[in-house]
Amino acid sequence: MGTSEVRVSVIHSISKLIKWDDLIMQIISNCTHGQIKKAAEALKNGHLVSFPTETVYGLGADAVNEQAIARIYEVKGRPTDHPLIVHISSLNLVEKWAVDIPEYALKLAHEFWPGPMTLILRKSDFAQKFITGNQETVGLRVPSHPIAIELLTQFRNLGGAGIAAPSANRFGAVSPTNAKDVVEEISTNLRSKDLILDGGQCQVGVESTIIDCSDGAPNLLRPGAITAEIIRANTGLNILKSFDKKMIRAPGVLDSHYSPKAKVVLDKTAKSGDGFIAMADIPTPSGAIRLATPLTVEQYARDLYAALRLSDKRNLKQVVVIQPTGGGLALVIRDRLSKSASNK
Ligand code: TXA
Ligand code: MG
Repeated sequence: MGTSEVRVSVIHSISKLIKWDDLIMQIISNCTHGQIKKAAEALKNGHLVSFPTETVYGLGADAVNEQAIARIYEVKGRPTDHPLIVHISSLNLVEKWAVDIPEYALKLAHEFWPGPMTLILRKSDFAQKFITGNQETVGLRVPSHPIAIELLTQFRNLGGAGIAAPSANRFGAVSPTNAKDVVEEISTNLRSKDLILDGGQCQVGVESTIIDCSDGAPNLLRPGAITAEIIRANTGLNILKSFDKKMIRAPGVLDSHYSPKAKVVLDKTAKSGDGFIAMADIPTPSGAIRLATPLTVEQYARDLYAALRLSDKRNLKQVVVIQPTGGGLALVIRDRLSKSASNK
């Protein structure tokens, strides 16, 4: 059995618990080599494929196919000046998509790819403006999820250069971290030849770290699992955190994002009937509805979005979230929560 088959069969054992019926598009739960090939062909033929990554599920399209990319914007309801991340199968493809790549960016890529990190680089002529939101930069990422890697590799074998994929949610909503949530979020906007690859629950649960490498020094645009501290410890690089409003086109850095329909309230006392999310050692207030009970901050990140979505599935009006304390991933969680809470 080849490496890819081993990887894929592990995913199958995670995802086979979910049953899907009555859906317009096809959902592939037992992601074998052959089925991922079918998904790569669908992408090459201009269809959309939602696929798991280690962070959240993406909604993918061939990054050179303008019509397919237009459908991503349509399905998400996302303004077309918001750029998409191009997912590539390996570091070797960076030079196809980007030019003037600084040494420090290569250092980051060597250290953290495949993994939950996106680099913003100056775009090459090959990178069309319909994926960059008309900007002169392009976002690139090599994900580490075995299904994503397999899909990208097979897509590459078919001559594909990259898969543009935003998170598979409607604009402004919470990113899906399992295939069921993808279905609930966007299935009514998908077509019969589109596909959803089911890889179970995403292990990281929050979107990738985005680092702008289009200037003299690396600049953190969106915090993620690869923190500035991890980067410093592994590469010696200091990441600037000079948040710059000129990057306002990146939806993840808008003030209001990642929002369920329920009102998200931070660090307040929950009333009876409110949803409640907190670390396991914090007891549920009387009458509140517990939506997640993470034991660790990693588990908190992994479960947070599904818990926020659960508040809508249960038609809750309000969800109280007790934020985790400390740096690292706790800081990432607080970044997303502050945006979830800022629109109501
Ligand atoms: O973890 C992730 O990054 C997930 C998975 C699917 O890879 N993707 C994701 O994509 O979160 P999206 O589109 O939901 O968020 C990507 C962010 C957006 O805020 C987008 O505007 C920003 O990256 N972005 C992409 N290209 C950019 C560019 N050239 N300049 C500035 N921001 C960019
Ligand atoms: Mg998103």
